[in-house]
Amino acid sequence: MSAMNAAMRALFAFLLLLAPTVASAATDGTPPRYLADRRLWVLDGGPVTYVVGVNERDELQHVYWGGRLWRDADLRAAHSMPADDSTEPSTTTTPEEFPGWGGARYFEPCMKVTREDGVRDLVLKYSSYEIAGSDLVIHMKDVAADIDVLLSYRMDPSGILRKQATIRNRTKQVVTVESAQAGAWLLPPGDGYCLSYLAGRWGGETLLVREEIHPGVKLLESRRGVATSNTMNPWFAIDGRERATEEHGRVWFGALAWSGSWRISVEQTPEQQVRVTGGFNTFDFSYPLKPGEALTTPAFFAGYTDGGFGEASRILHRFERTAILPRPGTARPRPVLYNSWEATGFDVNEAGQVALAEKAARLGVERFVIDDGWFGARDSSRAGLGDWTPNPKKFPNGLGPLIARVRQLGMDFGLWVEPEMVNPDSDLYRAHPDWVIGFPGRPRSESRSQLVLNLARDDVKEHVFSVLDVLVAKDDIRFLKWDANRHFSEPGWPERPVAEQRMLWVKYTTNYYEIIDRLRAKHPSLEIESCSSGGGRVDLGILSRTDQAWTSDNTDGFDRLSIQDGFSRAYTPRVMMAWVTDVPNMNERSTPLQYRFLAAMMGSLGIGANLNRWSEQDFAMASRMIAYYKSIRATVQEGDLYRLFSPREDGLTANQYVAADGKQSVVFVFQQAQQFNRPAPTVYLSGLDENALYRIQPIDDKLLERPPVASGGWLAQHGLRFRLRGDFDSSSVLLEKLP
Ligand code: GLA
Repeated sequence: MSAMNAAMRALFAFLLLLAPTVASAATDGTPPRYLADRRLWVLDGGPVTYVVGVNERDELQHVYWGGRLWRDADLRAAHSMPADDSTEPSTTTTPEEFPGWGGARYFEPCMKVTREDGVRDLVLKYSSYEIAGSDLVIHMKDVAADIDVLLSYRMDPSGILRKQATIRNRTKQVVTVESAQAGAWLLPPGDGYCLSYLAGRWGGETLLVREEIHPGVKLLESRRGVATSNTMNPWFAIDGRERATEEHGRVWFGALAWSGSWRISVEQTPEQQVRVTGGFNTFDFSYPLKPGEALTTPAFFAGYTDGGFGEASRILHRFERTAILPRPGTARPRPVLYNSWEATGFDVNEAGQVALAEKAARLGVERFVIDDGWFGARDSSRAGLGDWTPNPKKFPNGLGPLIARVRQLGMDFGLWVEPEMVNPDSDLYRAHPDWVIGFPGRPRSESRSQLVLNLARDDVKEHVFSVLDVLVAKDDIRFLKWDANRHFSEPGWPERPVAEQRMLWVKYTTNYYEIIDRLRAKHPSLEIESCSSGGGRVDLGILSRTDQAWTSDNTDGFDRLSIQDGFSRAYTPRVMMAWVTDVPNMNERSTPLQYRFLAAMMGSLGIGANLNRWSEQDFAMASRMIAYYKSIRATVQEGDLYRLFSPREDGLTANQYVAADGKQSVVFVFQQAQQFNRPAPTVYLSGLDENALYRIQPIDDKLLERPPVASGGWLAQHGLRFRLRGDFDSSSVLLEKLP
């Protein structure tokens, strides 16, 4: 064990307490092991082994990441790679764990700095390490300057490893950080890898993209400051040359925890080394550290499985439920909510909301949420943002009477807020025009007639915290849908010296996290939904502080199947909010009510329809569906997901969920379009006990054969055949394991 001085120990303790980009508590993994004879650290968890070592040049070198290894004797000490001598100077080809930009390195570094004296060379070497419980911290230091990096590793029992780096300036001059990545993930050398990632747009988020990895760098990123982004989500999966399927094959996968400007680079070097780095976006990045100051990167989580993309998702989902989401183990099932946005838009008032609440309660809804339009002069998106008091014309007696009625109806009450934003036409902006982000004297883009408050400023942060604190306390509000409908543009912070203005990219997000953390600490029963123009703020950073996420503003049942399929690659269905809304919707398509219900029931169910327009038949169907959802939601929200048919390929979508205790399973099937004389598709079930018997309970009469009871073996090998009729037909089957 290396010697550690007192300052180092104190810093280590501080780091363990403060993993600032992820808020959840530690989970116990297998303790890391140090093999002193070979200078290797071995991190084992679930199906995974990860090995890192120090080579003969004292560089920290990646050694192994893949399936679990059992024999330490198989592990060889790290040894640097031969330099590429074809050019001068000789280039570094060693697979380093955390390369600084310095020496002859031509690949993506994990860190880059400029010192006050102009030096931009950074060569990091191993200095010492510490193991405490399941945490390993490796201490690196520049060869010449007192610039430290503490690399923190924590292996979860699921095999998901967390990497995070803290950069500390111990010199006597300012050191400006220009790149700070959590670390590099290196795959076994070779080519033929394939990258999967999630991309899209507003109204079409988290769509799965797959492409071969070629030499060069592929960049996944957000440059949007406020948001993780609707256009790219910080998740990746890489499968090997043999290609993985849902249930087979090697997959390395990961997710970055940062709800602002992030980057993940996927690079194949000339040595056929695939390297994935991730952290703060380096675009426009500059973070000066005064002597003694530190900067911690976002956390980057990654895992490995040989069980295909399905198992990769299931590992992530379990990990999120146990180690990321707030209240692990004690979280209650996600309640069925009603949200009035699509019904009333900005036209909200007490009588109208009470009428909707009464109808929602009849259906079995458990939480009633008023969306936009309840506050300030908010009759449209053009005014009122920033003035978080009930509109006196719409709610002459405040929200109290509505909330009382909602509670009397047996539901809890939630409110939409967008606290980081301001309309120029608002009392807040008139009082504090200097609180917004922008460059003085320059044109300033508005989007949705709004500007972004500069949360990086402490006075703005305190204002936003106290507004929410008062709002939540006054009427004992239990749920906030926290929205953010525009992202950074002209990202100026004029009150700070020029050299410090770009700290905005980091400080905005850390202060945003701090507000939520403080609010939750003060109001422990408060639940929060993360939203940014739909699914623009979904990542492991915000999910460690919120209970659910708005998946997309697009609530069309058919489009949702692809959006939700992509979402489920990275995130547990527990957090995936899905509403049943009216048709035709955004894209003029009409799907049957059952189809919309079943699509929404594959995540956390909400109703967003205008109940004033529903027929008695609609109410009857909805009541039945909500009762059905309540009987299966533990399985959907806490169970294992098997994607049986993909909406991207087959014209048929089928998903199956299996309860954590194996006692229940539920299957959902959806047909896109009827094809004349097409045979009924067979859906082979997964995740069941082959030797157990299951009672088969379909919700309708679409099963071709319907034995009352069948073995798990029959369900997996013979499968269920669905006779779907017509465009957008759907069905669901509940399976209960017999004792
Ligand atoms: C965003 C959200 C919607 C809704 C509106 C209200 O677009 O994603 O769900 O809350 O704002 O203005």
